[in-house]
Amino acid sequence: MKSYQKLLLENKAWAQEKVEDDPDFFNRLSQIQTPDFLWIGCSDSRVPANEITNTQPGEIFVHRNVANLVVHTDVNLLSVLDYAVTYLKVKHVIVCGHYGCGGVKAAMTNHDFKQVLNMWLRNIKDVYRLHRDELEAIQEEEPRFDRLVELNVIEQVQHLAKTSIIQRAWQRESFPHIHGWVYGLKDGLIKPVFEMAAGTSIDPLYQYDDL
Ligand code: CO
Repeated sequence: MKSYQKLLLENKAWAQEKVEDDPDFFNRLSQIQTPDFLWIGCSDSRVPANEITNTQPGEIFVHRNVANLVVHTDVNLLSVLDYAVTYLKVKHVIVCGHYGCGGVKAAMTNHDFKQVLNMWLRNIKDVYRLHRDELEAIQEEEPRFDRLVELNVIEQVQHLAKTSIIQRAWQRESFPHIHGWVYGLKDGLIKPVFEMAAGTSIDPLYQYDDL
């Protein structure tokens, strides 16, 4: 059997199991989705949003990219954010990074990954530059890498608050709250590292009027 055929076979078994547990499961979900959460995570295959939070289809709206970045010119991410916040009215946006992130590790090197990847990883190098003093005070490579993973998540949460999408929502409602989490590949545990409750004030430079 080809590897992808196993996926299709497993899908059949999964769908059957779901219906056995809850005959109305697909009927109900096909009508509407009302997720409370938007998850912005890393594309890494070892960090699946639903599985590590033990949630079901319908519970989390998901966007994933290399190293869970919030880039203000990324139309893909911004569309997901706008839809989730403005229309689905999610109550929480979670940026979840992970220790051992290959994207963050790559950005700590001087290796030329050629076009596109260099462009993307450059965003992480900017995070390093902003926190260079703190990072370079850490002697050991592993803890410095771990800390950059955390700082990257914190930076991305702050990027979210700089968007007019989040600012408009905060002006009209008392949500969404934005969370920065880091998942541990070695123990499967999520560590919350940062939080911006709805309405948290941000640097006036990034505040929009007439929202
Ligand atoms: Co990663």
